[in-house]
Amino acid sequence: MLRLTASALILALLTPSPLAAQAVEPAAQGVTTVPMTAQDALDGYYRSLARVVDLPRAGRGVDADSNLVLTRFAFGSCFSEIRDAGIWNTIARTDPQMFMMIGDNVYGDTNWRGDAELGTLRASYAKLASLPQFTAFYDQVPFLTTWDDHDYGFNDGGRDFAFRGWAETIYENFWNSPDEVRGRPGVHYSRIFGPEGQRVQVILLDTRYFRSPLVRAEVAPGQPRPPLGPYVPDTSADADMLGAEQWAWLAEELAKPADLRLVVSSIQVLTDAHQFESWATMPGERDRLYRLLAARNGGGVLLMSGDRHAGGVYQDAPAAFGGQPLWEITSSSLNFAFSDTATNTAREPDPRRVTDFISEANFGLVEIDWRRRELRLELRGREGEVRTTQTVGWSAAN
Ligand SMILES: [Fe+2]
Repeated sequence: MLRLTASALILALLTPSPLAAQAVEPAAQGVTTVPMTAQDALDGYYRSLARVVDLPRAGRGVDADSNLVLTRFAFGSCFSEIRDAGIWNTIARTDPQMFMMIGDNVYGDTNWRGDAELGTLRASYAKLASLPQFTAFYDQVPFLTTWDDHDYGFNDGGRDFAFRGWAETIYENFWNSPDEVRGRPGVHYSRIFGPEGQRVQVILLDTRYFRSPLVRAEVAPGQPRPPLGPYVPDTSADADMLGAEQWAWLAEELAKPADLRLVVSSIQVLTDAHQFESWATMPGERDRLYRLLAARNGGGVLLMSGDRHAGGVYQDAPAAFGGQPLWEITSSSLNFAFSDTATNTAREPDPRRVTDFISEANFGLVEIDWRRRELRLELRGREGEVRTTQTVGWSAAN
């Protein structure tokens, strides 16, 4: 894995670029400021860069009405901007009140060569903005977003991605992020919709910006790699999924009253069935999340995730969640399938997954029945076909 050290940073800054002459900001007339750290130098470089490059934007977008009684929304992840974009038309036909695009929204790290400008990431976002199927939908239906690694700019990246600040600028510009998000590190965000009794809180976590490095399984020379991912659980006290600021923010959010909470994590939460990225790489952090969720100020909880290039519905009853049932729906990918469902389901047996592991292109469609206090969870395919469905009730009393 590429590690970006201070010296690598300086090398990146020295990479020939039409912007090189503007890399150092002049201060007052006649005074030369010398950056004292690599980060200072990088920050100055990006302030200059932001003035001379066009940052892509998704479009005008539509703001969601805070009075909205949410009964039907769609979500998805893992959209390759260079593949078929027809699924946007399909999603539009299901008439959702809102869409959540929850990570790997573009593949901006593909062919990236380590430049600090993140040229491939910006080009990927520009490509997404050029797709009429996407922009027509974006300008018609309110979006809520978060990112995962491929739209963060670095495969499986966390807080040690040296160019994360610039990636955040690119993201916030593209998605028209509110000042609240622009004004703090990371892209986590929360919204509340609807009147008392039908109040939905959507919490979109940032599992990238603050995340400590993952621990890889040691593979002896000549031995096969584990088939389902390279990581092992980090049980050290240093393991950190959200970072102190975001953890504190999350506790404050969960103290707000709500009848239903949709908690979005780009990576999967409940499963232990694989060794790719998930909250299982940090069991202590996952228990911390469960404890915080258990201490919430009322309302049902649904976890939502993506990332896997396959989707399904999961259930567990974690001790740290008070032994209560907890549900998760994973939708992935919007247009970037790896294998067929039969293969996927057999390859990754999982006692916590209650459906097949759907690998064909899919999006999630969730209906909220306020009278019955039930959620209808669906994964739908490229043509809108129902791939799997699950109805779950929620309890406000936890
Ligand atoms: Fe991912």
